[in-house]
Amino acid sequence: MPSSAPVQGGDACSLIPPASRTPMVVGNWKMNGRYGDAVRLAQLVVDRLERGWRNRVEVVMCPPFTALRGVSNVVAFDKSFAKVGAQNCHSEEWGAFTGEVSPPMLADLDCAWCIVGHSERRALFGETDSDVVAKCTALARSGVSPIVCVGEPVEVYDAGQTVEYVADQVRRSLAGATLTGVDLAVAYEPVWAIGSGRTPSPEHVQAVAAAIRAAVAEVRCEKRAASARVLYGGSVKRGNAATFTACPDVDGVLVGGDSLDAEAFVEIVERVMDA
Ligand code: PGA
Repeated sequence: MPSSAPVQGGDACSLIPPASRTPMVVGNWKMNGRYGDAVRLAQLVVDRLERGWRNRVEVVMCPPFTALRGVSNVVAFDKSFAKVGAQNCHSEEWGAFTGEVSPPMLADLDCAWCIVGHSERRALFGETDSDVVAKCTALARSGVSPIVCVGEPVEVYDAGQTVEYVADQVRRSLAGATLTGVDLAVAYEPVWAIGSGRTPSPEHVQAVAAAIRAAVAEVRCEKRAASARVLYGGSVKRGNAATFTACPDVDGVLVGGDSLDAEAFVEIVERVMDA
């Protein structure tokens, strides 16, 4: 689609102020921790975040649904600048959807962000690009910003087709969504790098991040592409976080395993902030 094509779905391009692209560090706790463990972890993270970092980095903790209220309470009580995010949502607001959790429910628990289309959800729970579009629209209606995950399987990486594959995923996950009034983050997470200890080179990550931004410009608009945060995820550790965020189109990281260790996670925050 040429960049002059009309934007599909509604967008907030005219409402979003010019990009400042504050670096962002997101902790995806996945299905880990009982309620008490999650509250303790949130408290340890919040205790380590220095007040002076408030405008220099955006920190988001994404616990399981069961701990969202507890983590939100820790953040509110501490008046921390940390934000709370969910790991998934349903695309309807209310109704007969046994076991599901909707965007208005997340907003009610002070979630600022929600991860959508994580590769584990795509692979294990059949989440499709069109589900991602519907979820993004539903989240925006409740004022919750989406973190849209994309990334290639190892065969695509080995065949050298990552850029085309990921750009296509971005187009199909965002064209037609209505994002009025919310921020957007797109996380590039190579499926083969998640939890494996293997990571792509910073040069590869930069090339993919630039392609992601171009694809966002194509299906949304230039302003949205300029303000969207592009994150890298997949075996991010304190030792490698800064190498990714030094890339001009990479605005932060999405951390799985190391987000469960408060000390490691906050060290990643520091390194990203200073990169
Ligand atoms: P990892 O997970 O940091 O443990 O590789 C990243 C993710 O799945 O978001």
